[in-house]
Amino acid sequence: PLVGTGELVARARAAGHGVAAFNVITLEHAEAIAAGAEAAGTGAVLQISENAVRFHGGRLGPPAAAAAAVARASDAPLALHLDHVESTELLRAAPDAGFGSVMFDASKLPYAGNVEATAEAVRFGHRHGMWVEAELGRVGGKPGDPAPERGTLDAHAPGVRTDPDEARAYVAATGVDALAVAVGSSHAMTERTAVLDHDLIGELRRAVPVPLVLHGSSGVPDGELRRAVASGMVKINVGTALNTAFTGAVRALLERDPSAVDPRRYLTPAREAMAETVASFLRVVSR
Ligand code: G3H
Ligand code: ZN
Repeated sequence: PLVGTGELVARARAAGHGVAAFNVITLEHAEAIAAGAEAAGTGAVLQISENAVRFHGGRLGPPAAAAAAVARASDAPLALHLDHVESTELLRAAPDAGFGSVMFDASKLPYAGNVEATAEAVRFGHRHGMWVEAELGRVGGKPGDPAPERGTLDAHAPGVRTDPDEARAYVAATGVDALAVAVGSSHAMTERTAVLDHDLIGELRRAVPVPLVLHGSSGVPDGELRRAVASGMVKINVGTALNTAFTGAVRALLERDPSAVDPRRYLTPAREAMAETVASFLRVVSR
C-alpha cells in the first residue's frame, strides 16, 4: 500500500531502526524497490529527484503516477517522496502529483538564504499536508557539484560537515520535519568506501528534535550504515547502488547475447539485480 514517508520514518525511529529511501528513474526501479521491500518484509520510500523529473521531460505526473501505482499494488508499505527539489515551481506541483513528502534542497545557499527559502518551502508543504526534509551542510557529489574543498573557510561549500549548533538553530527557524546532514558521505559513489563521523552523528541527534537523513548512502559500507542508524540516522537515501546493479546486469546480458533486441531480455536481470540490492540495504538498516 501507499503510505506516508513521515509515518514510515516515525515508526522506524520509535523502533530504533532506519528506513531506506531509494531513487526511482525507470518503472523497473519502482518495481524492484517494491519487490525488494516485499522480500525483506519491511517498508521503503520510493523517491523521485528533480533530476529524474528532468529526465522524464520535466513532467512530474507520469513518473509519480507510475511509482504511486506500484506502491498501491505492493504488499509492502511504500511511500512516495520528491527528492532534491530546488525549483519552487516543482515544489508547488508536488501535492497534486500525489507526493506526501518532499526534500527541499537549498543547501547550496549561504545559511541565511537556506533558512529563508526552506522556511517558505516548509510553510507551503505543511499547508498541503506534506512532510518536509531539508539539508544543512553540503553532502556534495551530485552532477554539477564542484569537488569537495579541503580547508575551506566557506562553511557551506560541498563536503563541509554540518555544525550541531547551526543545525539546532536551523531546525527551529525553518520548522522542517527531518534534517539531511553532511557527516562524511558523498553522492554518486560507486565504491562503498565512505567513512562516517559517528561522534558528529551523535552530537547532531542530541542537537535536533527531528529525525536525521543520510544522503549518498550507496558509498557507505554495511557496518558503517548499521553504526549510523545506531547513532541516530533514520532515513537512509540510496540511489547510485541501484544504477550500478541495473547497468552491470544490462552490460553482462548484452555481452553474453549481443543479438538481444527485446528490452525485456536485459531489463529482467536488471530489475532482479536492483531488487536484490534493495533487499540487502533494507536488511541492514531496518532491523
Ligand atoms: O537523495 C538521494 C541520495 O542521497 C542518493 O545518493 O546515489 O549516492 O546513493 P547515492
Ligand atoms: Zn541526496
